[in-house]
Amino acid sequence: MTTPAFDVRPTTQATEANVRAEILANPGFGRYFTDHMVHVRWTKDDGWHSGELRPYGPLTLDPAASVLHYAQEIFEGIKAYRHADGSVWTFRPEKNAARFRDSARRLALPELDDETFIESLRTLVRQDIDWVPTPASEAEESSLYLRPFMIASEKFLGVKPSKEVDYYVIASPAAAYFKGGVKPVSIWLSSNYNRAAPGGTGFAKCGGNYAASLAAQQEAENHGCDQVAFLDAVENRWVEELGGMNLFFVYRDGRLVTPALTGTILEGVTRDSILQLGRDAGLTPEERPISIDEWREGVNSGEISEVFACGTAAVITPIGELVTEHERIGGGSEEGGRIGRQLRKQLLDLQYGRTEDPHGWLTRL
Ligand code: COI
Repeated sequence: MTTPAFDVRPTTQATEANVRAEILANPGFGRYFTDHMVHVRWTKDDGWHSGELRPYGPLTLDPAASVLHYAQEIFEGIKAYRHADGSVWTFRPEKNAARFRDSARRLALPELDDETFIESLRTLVRQDIDWVPTPASEAEESSLYLRPFMIASEKFLGVKPSKEVDYYVIASPAAAYFKGGVKPVSIWLSSNYNRAAPGGTGFAKCGGNYAASLAAQQEAENHGCDQVAFLDAVENRWVEELGGMNLFFVYRDGRLVTPALTGTILEGVTRDSILQLGRDAGLTPEERPISIDEWREGVNSGEISEVFACGTAAVITPIGELVTEHERIGGGSEEGGRIGRQLRKQLLDLQYGRTEDPHGWLTRL
């Protein structure tokens, strides 16, 4: 694998400073995009080449491009954080790069090396540095959300791996993922749908997994819930994850339980970091199967004190309740989640450079 150098072509395309300031004051999530994007081309004959930074704008794709028909596509989510001294950092990018390669292998796409992946983020962030928000306070979690993605662009309707692929990175200023910020969210337990089955693509970050979650997400919203939770596809018994986030259960005795990675669950970078931060805080992390019965009984008996969701976009968000066709299961007696809030603060303090980085998780962009 060779590393393409990026042909950086700064353009005159720039959002007016006052317009940008207005956006940064209230960016929401995923609604606005910066002025540039990165693109790298891959062909079966020449490998990765023609790395460039170019103005953000629509792509030209042949209508027969295989991504449009067979969804040969993968993506990542990672944030850039502005520290108090103005410097900009990202969090464990080598984990995202490794997961991107795992996803690429599963979707028969070409692998991208760490160096190109990280340099592509750096190239875009350096160009659009003014788009990285400065949090107004420690309570605010504004950042620049980076979205690397790879699509199959060969013009061919046969079902086979594409011989032409394009990699892009776009960036979007982001505040809290949920409209209510870090208020407890309600979760709908899907009984009609599963997210992933053994041998499928559950562990990969591919658009198809998210497309397949949308009908269930719609069902959740129809029941007045914020997000959908999925059980395993074999026994419909084991808790897996939400539409786009991993799950954690805090036990009163200090256990911090999250569903084990079985191949049907996304290996979240935030999930992995919480396991470590939990260990550092003296909690006992456990990665193991957890059934819906254990959730119900644990909450009813008071053994489970908190349930929370986590992800790059969601950070750590407490779960208020789980709603099913037949019942409402609480999110634990600890309203708003003391441990979840503490881990969230530890994680954000580290990401924003307000505390030491004992695990060397930060990379300067
Ligand atoms: C992320 O947390 O980065 C994700 O990719 C989740 C997505 C649904 C926003």
